[in-house]
Amino acid sequence: MPKVLTLLEDEVGDVLEKAIRQRGISVAALGEATGVSRQRIQDSLDYRSDLSCNELRRLAGALDLNEVGLCALGCCCYPRADSPKLPFAVHVVAMAHGIGCANAYVVTKTGGDVGVLFDTGPSLSALLESWPKPIAKVEAVFLTHVEGEHTGGLCDVVDYFGISTARVPAAAKAPCGQPMGEGDTWIWSGLKVTAFRTPGHAAAHNCYLVRVDAGGPALLVSGDLLFAGSAGGAFYDKTLQQTHLRRILGLCPDDTVVAPGHGPMTTVQIERRYNPFLV
Ligand SMILES: [Fe+2]
Repeated sequence: MPKVLTLLEDEVGDVLEKAIRQRGISVAALGEATGVSRQRIQDSLDYRSDLSCNELRRLAGALDLNEVGLCALGCCCYPRADSPKLPFAVHVVAMAHGIGCANAYVVTKTGGDVGVLFDTGPSLSALLESWPKPIAKVEAVFLTHVEGEHTGGLCDVVDYFGISTARVPAAAKAPCGQPMGEGDTWIWSGLKVTAFRTPGHAAAHNCYLVRVDAGGPALLVSGDLLFAGSAGGAFYDKTLQQTHLRRILGLCPDDTVVAPGHGPMTTVQIERRYNPFLV
């Protein structure tokens, strides 16, 4: 059975704020269109949400959001996956940054001490503070996008671990990394990492699908394209963000585990059904 998820990256007010910004509608106009009082919408945006499911349904209709997912967020009962059963190990490296938290991930063979790193966090010191102790060596590093909270320490991390393979989204302005574009695949000891170009949050943004030859569920490192119960802000292009959100969730099997740049891990199955930004 799904469990209750309490530490999502975005609350219902954050999702409403992103949707309002993307549609370019004012709070007043939204209130008028839905019959939900402007003050009650504003309270939700200000983290004092008391919106009923009925009100959230009307807001979802006006903002083109998934009403089931929005109501689940509104009652703090957004579902989460049972423990993922992947054919490799995933270590979450959660690092404080400002008032929030950013995730990096280290993937290893089960029981292995050599890792493949996805994103580097704000700095080498932040990464090392939360570093998984069993991992002694890093074979390669992949960046989802170039932002301080995710990639601030790239060159230092490459030097510290002596990493020979550092890949960044094609067209990203990043030192110490080689470009990786749509469909490019890196293979190491049976582990395959395939890049998907997913601009929207940033002009240069990749998601990475991690699989093994032997089969079994895959891992999608989604950066700031997709979060559990939300999506990254569409700061570069809202249409592209929505297009790639649908595309990536369409091409990954249901049992794919999603490892986002912020917030907890989730699955493609849950996000396809409940993510507020997928109607
Ligand atoms: Fe981010």
